[in-house]
Amino acid sequence: MSEITLRNICKMYDKDHYAVKDFNLEIHDREFVIFVGPSGCGKSTTLRMIAGLEDISDGELWIDGQLCNYFEPKDRGLSMVFQNYALYPNMTVYGNLAFALKVRHLPKDEIDRTVKQVAKTLEIEKLLERHPNALSGGQKQRVAIGSAIVRRPKAFLMDEPLSNLDAKLRAQMRIELAKIHKETETTIIYVTHDQTEAMTLGTKIVVMKDGLVQQVAAPAEVYNNPANLFVAGFIGSPSMNFFKALVTEEDGKAALLLGNAASGRKVFLEGKRAQRLLKEEKDREVTLGIRPEDIYEYQEAVDGGFEKNTVGLEEVVDTREMLGAEVILYFESQGKTQSVRLKPENQSKPGETIKLYMNPEKIQIFDAETEENIFYEREI
Ligand SMILES: Nc1ncnc2c1ncn2[C@@H]1O[C@H](COP(=O)(O)OP(=O)(O)OP(=O)(O)O)[C@@H](O)[C@H]1O
Ligand SMILES: [Mg+2]
Repeated sequence: MSEITLRNICKMYDKDHYAVKDFNLEIHDREFVIFVGPSGCGKSTTLRMIAGLEDISDGELWIDGQLCNYFEPKDRGLSMVFQNYALYPNMTVYGNLAFALKVRHLPKDEIDRTVKQVAKTLEIEKLLERHPNALSGGQKQRVAIGSAIVRRPKAFLMDEPLSNLDAKLRAQMRIELAKIHKETETTIIYVTHDQTEAMTLGTKIVVMKDGLVQQVAAPAEVYNNPANLFVAGFIGSPSMNFFKALVTEEDGKAALLLGNAASGRKVFLEGKRAQRLLKEEKDREVTLGIRPEDIYEYQEAVDGGFEKNTVGLEEVVDTREMLGAEVILYFESQGKTQSVRLKPENQSKPGETIKLYMNPEKIQIFDAETEENIFYEREI
């Protein structure tokens, strides 16, 4: 069992700059919580404050009903896995796994049983007699995770544990980690700046920027219902497309004019979303956001029943990326590179013009000043 609560946690390394500000979070037993955000946003600092490796400047850290701000790291019942493995080079894999248990003076047969069980979970049974220098990066990482598991911590804290691995191994270890989480039934707090890791591993994602939490939600929720422009742009690859647009009213619908009015480019929204938009942003410029997979070609738009909502979005293909199961076309619009994800049958080549249709249901609108998502549905 573990419940970890952060209340208004702050960190100031120097007196007029917050590295982390008012961080609030409840972590429940068996959750896989991901801290994600760009470099320097305060992910490691927050994790290190939870671990006890960094002082908490302000706020409260509760672990299982105890206020832990001043507990020594070893008294918090947490186990940290570092990016650079931290294995004992002179010990075998077995020795590395057994170490924490030997220190606790556990009976030999119990140590042996635990080590073998963990080795089995991690599929490193055949490596037990080897030394760390005879292991691959992925194997070392598994041993490091194993030596954390044997301690049976209340929670694992992991700071970019896969960042030293090559792309293929990283993808493999990602799957392993999901499996380990399921099998060990423990709580994991995991730091990464890789949004794929965040989306695939997390049960809950904390998106951070400049020391501030931007949104806390399940991966699908963060993806489909981003709180603001930053979250929308950070999560998803290729990134969400953003267009400047003017909100006007036409026959009771909201018409979003893209570019200057003379270009005739517009997208219509209807129903509740339109009403909300007109109420809050009529005659104002906003940022329209739409994901590459929510833009279609004519026939798909007709099939979806929304081709009439888009007028005049003709774009010249810049680059074509064939990924096998899909093709991504990049184009320039409003001085930015935008993209659309289409079926692999699409044959458009660079230099050709393609007509595009947005799915109005999937459009997000961000206030030009606050960058908040007008359509954001706050979770209760
Ligand atoms: N020991 C320190 N002294 C002073 N400032 C620090 C210290 N450690 C971190 N910082 C600053 O605090 C901020 C947050 O740093 P942190 O290491 O938490 O970022 P991060 O999100 O983990 O970034 P990355 O993805 O690059 O690891 C940064 O501006 C960083 O420069
Ligand atoms: Mg870091």
